Amino acid sequence: MELTRTADLWWKNAVVYCLDVETYSDSDGDGHGDFRGLTQHIDHLATLGVTCVWLMPFFPSPDRDDGYDITDFYGVDPRLGSHGDFVDFVRTARDRGMRVIADLVVNHTSDKHPWFRSARSSPDSPYRDWYVWRDEPPADAEKGVVFPDQETSLWQYDEEAGQYYLHQFYKHQPDLNVANPAVREEIARVMGFWMELGLSGFRVDAVPFLLETQGKDARLPDPHDYLADLRAFLTRRQGDAVLLGEVNLPYPDTMRFFGAGDGVGDELTMCFDFIGMQRTYLSLARQDAGPLAEALRERPAPPRDAHWATFLRNHDELTLDKLTDAERQEVFDAFGPDKDMQLYGRGLRRRLPTMLGGAAARIRMAYSLLFSLPGTPVLFYGEEIGMAEDLRAEGRLAVRTPMQWTPGRNGGFSTADPDDLPGPVVDGEYGPEHVNVSAQRRDPDSLLSWIRMLVERYRECPELAWGEYRVLKTGEASVLAHRCDIDGGTVVAVHNLADAAVDVVLNLDGLDDSCVLTDLLVDGHTPVSADGQAHVELPSYGCRWFRSTRPEDAEAGR
Ligand code: NOJ
Repeated sequence: MELTRTADLWWKNAVVYCLDVETYSDSDGDGHGDFRGLTQHIDHLATLGVTCVWLMPFFPSPDRDDGYDITDFYGVDPRLGSHGDFVDFVRTARDRGMRVIADLVVNHTSDKHPWFRSARSSPDSPYRDWYVWRDEPPADAEKGVVFPDQETSLWQYDEEAGQYYLHQFYKHQPDLNVANPAVREEIARVMGFWMELGLSGFRVDAVPFLLETQGKDARLPDPHDYLADLRAFLTRRQGDAVLLGEVNLPYPDTMRFFGAGDGVGDELTMCFDFIGMQRTYLSLARQDAGPLAEALRERPAPPRDAHWATFLRNHDELTLDKLTDAERQEVFDAFGPDKDMQLYGRGLRRRLPTMLGGAAARIRMAYSLLFSLPGTPVLFYGEEIGMAEDLRAEGRLAVRTPMQWTPGRNGGFSTADPDDLPGPVVDGEYGPEHVNVSAQRRDPDSLLSWIRMLVERYRECPELAWGEYRVLKTGEASVLAHRCDIDGGTVVAVHNLADAAVDVVLNLDGLDDSCVLTDLLVDGHTPVSADGQAHVELPSYGCRWFRSTRPEDAEAGR
């Protein structure tokens, strides 16, 4: 296909990398990561092949929800740096060919935000109507509590205000009232501000909650019109900016958040594929590709310019809320049997390598899946070196430990006293002495080298992002085979989710013995028969990517 297309809709074959400035690299030894430290590590991201950095919240915050509780949407948390440091980072990233997006957390503010302080102080406050108030909580006030370990209701009585306010997350995060036009204008102003400073878009936090019509008394006439307005504003300011939305709903409901726009998509540019992610874990647990194949078959095609965003881990609990109770239990049994590994009754506070028992081939196969499945892959910092969780940290912080750069003190994250760090540095066999960037970058057999190679191949195979995909029947339950076709080019990927070697026969419609399948991850090629069959051998947890090639090109190494 013409690669020029990939430069316009850049997000379709982007590599997104999520990080928290606070836990990435501390340049001044105060124990907190900062923008200067992050910028000094820009070439780690560039050589990994990242094309878009997603910054978790870096705004001033009392930090009761790790920065998702904001007190100034226009500020930079002084512990992390200044606006100058932010701009320096964005500019340096751009020099390395990377775009930067950041969390847009506007479903709620911190209760310490000056708007809420004013709002609660008097019914006459100009900010009173920026939040959602009630004299009495509704009868179903406890329905939909997100953090059941800490909250029992969506409504909290406020002594000072003499009323209840809505908070769909923690009680210290009052919901903003987006039905108020002044709030909507302010949200646009915040977006415009950061785009002016160089951002290429936003990861939009908790989108269905932001647009929620059930919990809220103040309702938007049409929440999706509002989302389309936000997108229109974004692209008026910057044509190729994106909205990457957190929407964890069944596929048909999620589809609505892409918007229609005559089939082009006029709301979120990308939605995370939470369903595909959850079924991937079920498949891994069962060593049976079935649940994932089913998700891929069910998953609707997004509008023309939109895309799914795929991931194996993010900064939150590994949510399994869309599996049945029995399926969730299977994943718990396989990957997080201890109560301490589980969270909110729906998820796991672990990272991938420990869940997969440290089995190198299995971990590599899982990332090969991530980069070959259709959708924009999103990595969470530390995945590229196989970082693990630290269950000593509270709740979701178990997976948000400091980045491990070197085998030295604090993993090279900071020179501060370990007690002054935002969280513990991982201890034991996954600690920095064993898992760190500096050792892996010199080791061609490291996970880091593997992931770099996957990123390179993925970027060289726009078919994966742009092509039409089909899941192929192989007759082997443990094998997921899929093909992506566009403009006469075909890429095929085959993954064995089981720990026993297996041979499969692929039936490749439209291909014949005028072509061969050239391996993309190793040297080699596999013949295709006149009727389009190819025999493929896979070791335990094996994975292979192929491109259909004419034999003379394969021989010439093209
Ligand atoms: C979703 C974020 O991913 C999560 O970390 C946060 O706690 C909630 N939104 C509330 O902002």
